[in-house]
Amino acid sequence: MTCPTVDVCFTPREIRPADVAVVVDVLRATSTIVQAMAAGYPRVLCCRSVATARDLRVHGRVLAGERDCVRVPGFELGNSPAAVATAGRRGEELVLATTNGSPAIVAASSAARRVLIGCLLNLRAVLDAIRAEAAVTIVCSGTDGRPALEDVYVAGRLVAALDGMRSDAARVAERVGGAYPAPLEPLAESEDGARLRAIGQEPDIAWCARESVLGVVPEVCSKDDGVAVVGAKL
Ligand code: MLT
Repeated sequence: MTCPTVDVCFTPREIRPADVAVVVDVLRATSTIVQAMAAGYPRVLCCRSVATARDLRVHGRVLAGERDCVRVPGFELGNSPAAVATAGRRGEELVLATTNGSPAIVAASSAARRVLIGCLLNLRAVLDAIRAEAAVTIVCSGTDGRPALEDVYVAGRLVAALDGMRSDAARVAERVGGAYPAPLEPLAESEDGARLRAIGQEPDIAWCARESVLGVVPEVCSKDDGVAVVGAKL
């Protein structure tokens, strides 16, 4: 059997050794990372847990993250890309701990040679960065171990723009990606979209649905136990 060259993991649990991975948590961790780098942070330290983020606190680092989509007590920022953009760069590095997205990045960086951070904000830039790669796995962060509609939608948009043999999972995602006339719909329709509306963070849905408005492609440049350091692609 020929190996598929375009694959999708609907949840991080499915990650297997891969050459190139693109991690997607469009609502909202990967959107926040892309926005933070566009705001001028040279690095984002993605953490497996809130405790790890707390351990990394030193002067010059800004802590950001959420539990149940709400800012972690004592952290300077939550996980809102709009708030990160409004605040601008406030320190040397951003330390990010979220429920699903930042642990997915840590997990992917143990499995893949190259790990990029994708969302709608940087969709075209990510495609430009991976087009020449022989094999790509898109890792959806999902929500609490289950697939998230909005991540599968973004994965499908990436799959649709790539050449190569698709796995069945990639075909499923491609169908989902092609099922909506505009990105706002799957994001607003998703369970995560409903959760953000319920806690008054609805503006982030439209913010994250903007397509290819940023050119930054964050990429994991080093990893340690429980932390993946993301920097701008050179
Ligand atoms: C996560 O990592 O679970 C999400 O990004 C949650 C959120 O929207 O804050």
